[in-house]
Amino acid sequence: MDSLGNLKRSHYCGDLRMENLNEEVTLMGWVQKSRDLGPLIFVDLRDNKGITQIVFRKEDNEELYEKAKTLKSEYVIAVTGKVFERESKNKDIPTGDIEIISNELRILDTANTPKIYIKDDDNVSEEMRLKYRYLDLRKPQMQHNMRMRAEISKAFRDFLYDNNFLEVETPFLGKPTPEGARDYVVPSRVNKNLFYALPQSPQLFKQMLMVSGMDRYYPIVKCFRDEDLRANRQPEFTQVDIEMSFVNMDDVIAMNEKLLQYVFKRIKGIDLALPLNRMSYQEAMERFGSDKPDLRYGFEIKDMSQIVKLTDFELFSNSLAEGKQIRGINFNGLAQSYSRKQLDKLTKYMKGIGASGLIWLKLENDNTINSSINKALNEQFNEALLNLFDAKEDDLILVVIDKESKVLDYLGNLRVHVASENVQFKDDDFAITWIVDFPLFEYDEEEDRYVAKHHPFTHPVDEDIDKLTTNPHECRAKAYDIVINGDEIGGGSIRINNSELQNKMFDALSLTEDDINNKFGFFIEALKYGTPPHGGIAYGLDRFVMTMLNVNNIKDVIAFPKTQSATDPLTNAPTFITEQQMEELNIEFRDDSTI
Ligand code: AMO
Repeated sequence: MDSLGNLKRSHYCGDLRMENLNEEVTLMGWVQKSRDLGPLIFVDLRDNKGITQIVFRKEDNEELYEKAKTLKSEYVIAVTGKVFERESKNKDIPTGDIEIISNELRILDTANTPKIYIKDDDNVSEEMRLKYRYLDLRKPQMQHNMRMRAEISKAFRDFLYDNNFLEVETPFLGKPTPEGARDYVVPSRVNKNLFYALPQSPQLFKQMLMVSGMDRYYPIVKCFRDEDLRANRQPEFTQVDIEMSFVNMDDVIAMNEKLLQYVFKRIKGIDLALPLNRMSYQEAMERFGSDKPDLRYGFEIKDMSQIVKLTDFELFSNSLAEGKQIRGINFNGLAQSYSRKQLDKLTKYMKGIGASGLIWLKLENDNTINSSINKALNEQFNEALLNLFDAKEDDLILVVIDKESKVLDYLGNLRVHVASENVQFKDDDFAITWIVDFPLFEYDEEEDRYVAKHHPFTHPVDEDIDKLTTNPHECRAKAYDIVINGDEIGGGSIRINNSELQNKMFDALSLTEDDINNKFGFFIEALKYGTPPHGGIAYGLDRFVMTMLNVNNIKDVIAFPKTQSATDPLTNAPTFITEQQMEELNIEFRDDSTI
């Protein structure tokens, strides 16, 4: 192996152009591929900025040529040489007009045959990609994603710094925070039998920083949540966490709109028109069956409970009598896209998510309706149906019947599913909306009590404070989510800044006094020493990056993510700890039979 010695890199592998002809340059990187064409050896040299073609000519220097012959994929080399115009140009890469004719080669490290190809579309399993993540990250797409992630973080940081937000770090070893997921816990060695919880968010600390007079705070911070993983969730993820003092909801929203405008302009060159759209939670649920509606397409939900009275079809009348709801969506223009077989598949999908079934109605070319419930059709009903859904030839209406609490959710799910199969999204199409007027509570059937929809520190809408204990389900929250293309990118609220109201809130959540004292006593105490009105928001940075880059899997924007079962195939975490560690921590495994 050669040493680097005093050799200095003069350019990156993506830098050189025709203007550099005849310059003597030194590049360093990895051998992407090497081709032996008799008296010439061509090497594609790659670094994180691009690829440059290097040529070794037997006639120039036989020793150098022989050395170049030993190069294999992913060897790390330094090459010095002169820039020449290529005979056959490669229009696919920015350096495709030139090549380096080498006069010096240093092999800085050899490499085993890589376990995965270093190219974007290599179709290798996720397990392999994560096990050999350091190789996977060499791929141009992953290099791009990581670079963009850094650019986006920097854009957030610059805006927040310029707007007097103070970057403050908060502890990772703490007490459970109330974001509603399970905690990751860490045993304390010094304090036997006691545990820290990793923060699900810095919520209570950021509020206490407002009590401390920090006025405006932010960090870009890891959060930890032990919850079921999905395509846009990781057990450890990153928030851009923000809190401001002496503000109301409109102030927080206005500041965040400026922030989003700045980041969109800087990262995407897109001018966001302000103010952004706002939609109430109720409207989002009624029209789109989701509190994070994708507004890039229509497919709105309509309530059919009035028009079904125009037919004596028993399924409809019985369902209404049972207090169920009948709602549907017109998937405009998709009748022909769904054959019987595909509709069966869609029905199966709906049953898979818990719906009892799916009714379909197709508007054929001759304006007749073909349906899974042909018996229900009659002239009056058909006419009302077409009116309600503003339906035209080739439209497909899909209908779900269920309890109110379920029907919107099922249709919201169906809407996203059908759109994912049929709508072509453009890369730079961003539909952004605030969702506001959230309910303060939601009923948890398992626990048989109200739980906070956002978190228990969220301020109720002023007019609703009186209903906290009498009519909790009617209370609205001073909370807001920011939704981009159907994904919840961030959420926040105005906080309760008075210990009495905070205690009232805990009462409404049926927390006992002991519970309150044990969990949040320190926080209620903090609120008693002069707390400014304050509020904030947290963005899911990983999700924001996914949205900016049009990536569907959160793992593609995180350097070292976890699998669906929260493991890391690269390091094999989580692992057993040694007996000595267990002893020090005073931890013993329970006997198998008791687990
Ligand atoms: P919330 O729980 O809504 O609010 O989280 C804020 C944002 O964080 C992102 N997010 C996640 N991203 C990836 N993986 C996860 N497991 C995950 N969970 C959440 C989402 C979400 O919108 N303390 C409050 C904020 C506040 O009130 O200021 C909070 O954490 O994009």
